[in-house]
Amino acid sequence: MSKVAVIGAGYVGLTTAACLADLGNVVTVVDIDESKIARLKSNQVPFYEPGLLELVQRNANAERLSFTTSYLDAVPGAEYAIIAVSTPEGEGGEADPVPPLTGDMVSRVLKKRNTQHKASVVSNPEFLREGSAIQDFMHPDRVVVGSHDREAAEKVGKLYAPLDSPILVTPNIYTAEMVKYASNAFLATRISFINEIARISERVGADAKLVAEGMGLDKRIGPYYLDAGIGYGGSCFPKDVAALAAVAEGFDYHPELLHAVMDINRDQRMLVIDKLRECLDELPGRIIGLLGLAFKPNTDDMREAPSIDIAKVLLAAGAEVRAYDPAAIERSRMLVPEVDYLMDAYEVAEGADAIVLITEWNEFRQLDMARVQQLMRRPVIVDGRNIYDPETMRGLGFTYRGIGRE
Ligand SMILES: NC(=O)c1ccc[n+]([C@@H]2O[C@H](COP(=O)([O-])OP(=O)(O)OC[C@H]3O[C@@H](n4cnc5c(N)ncnc54)[C@H](O)[C@@H]3O)[C@@H](O)[C@H]2O)c1
Repeated sequence: MSKVAVIGAGYVGLTTAACLADLGNVVTVVDIDESKIARLKSNQVPFYEPGLLELVQRNANAERLSFTTSYLDAVPGAEYAIIAVSTPEGEGGEADPVPPLTGDMVSRVLKKRNTQHKASVVSNPEFLREGSAIQDFMHPDRVVVGSHDREAAEKVGKLYAPLDSPILVTPNIYTAEMVKYASNAFLATRISFINEIARISERVGADAKLVAEGMGLDKRIGPYYLDAGIGYGGSCFPKDVAALAAVAEGFDYHPELLHAVMDINRDQRMLVIDKLRECLDELPGRIIGLLGLAFKPNTDDMREAPSIDIAKVLLAAGAEVRAYDPAAIERSRMLVPEVDYLMDAYEVAEGADAIVLITEWNEFRQLDMARVQQLMRRPVIVDGRNIYDPETMRGLGFTYRGIGRE
């Protein structure tokens, strides 16, 4: 059992805190957001993450997990202080703070402020995914820890010993930091790669979904992150790729591949608009329904969600936009209030000129598409995630457009 302070009660901080508490540690979470802490103290979780509410409640009731807005309540006496605060992009795309050199910056701050205690800084990148955060934390593919102080890195590694996963201890902090950014940049590259293949597939008459399936069966390639669609979003890939590129530029290296990955991803969002224009001739006055808003299923996270850009462009073009998402409406309303938010997919379909499938929530896979077709004014569907079968859709009377498949 260790005493742990977790700084930041977001998706990462709260999941980490609840899981570490569940492993038997005594964890205090500190956040500067008073309303967040107030909600946590009254047994509520301020965002949606499957299973997290139960885990937080169980460990709070067992007095292994507590919440505060005061660093003094959390940090003194703790063996570990885990920093999991927000790292939004700066205007130039650089992360705040800067990624592969963040550890050095934290060390400098500690040295300046902390004259009494010796504290070592360890990079321990988190790889969990929203929507499966607890599962990812409890069953990681690997744990990475790196520090200029090897003993400290190994000590952090021990926190994860009960998880039975490989622990990679890197001999300096930069390597651990780079593992995180290189991993996310690689996954983003796979997505932009398959989206480029989708663009080519459309032109040559191939079906990009099957192309990806064929590629993914090759063990050297594997099937993951090869779904052609409207591109990646969320709080990690866009920021991490941009941050890595910014760091490289800072060292006078121009990362061409990373820039291509970002460019393709940006253009991919607008592909949906092109397809709508093609099917509807013009956009002004058209009623466009969006199915899904969150950047991916099983989360209410709207950070860098493609739906934001798509809705804004459609609204600016004079279309009427309506939308439904099982979890993200509240957050989306704050970002794009002009959208008409509805209660379910069928309401979205009623009288619509086109539907765009934005987020592949399971409930959209199970829709009664014959009913959807009947409800629409024009049965046009742009399937931004390729979840529907083109032949079936056409058989039902839809004008169907997928990504990389016609
Ligand atoms: N979200 C993910 O899937 C994911 C996965 C792996 C790594 N990460 C990384 O983890 C970090 C946190 O991400 P997140 O999604 O949990 O962010 P988040 O925005 O959900 O949460 C961050 C929290 O930190 C708090 N905070 C900000 N400044 C603070 C301060 N000075 N003191 C105390 N609290 C402070 C905020 O109020 C907020 O509650 C980011 O660097 C992110 O890139 C995120």
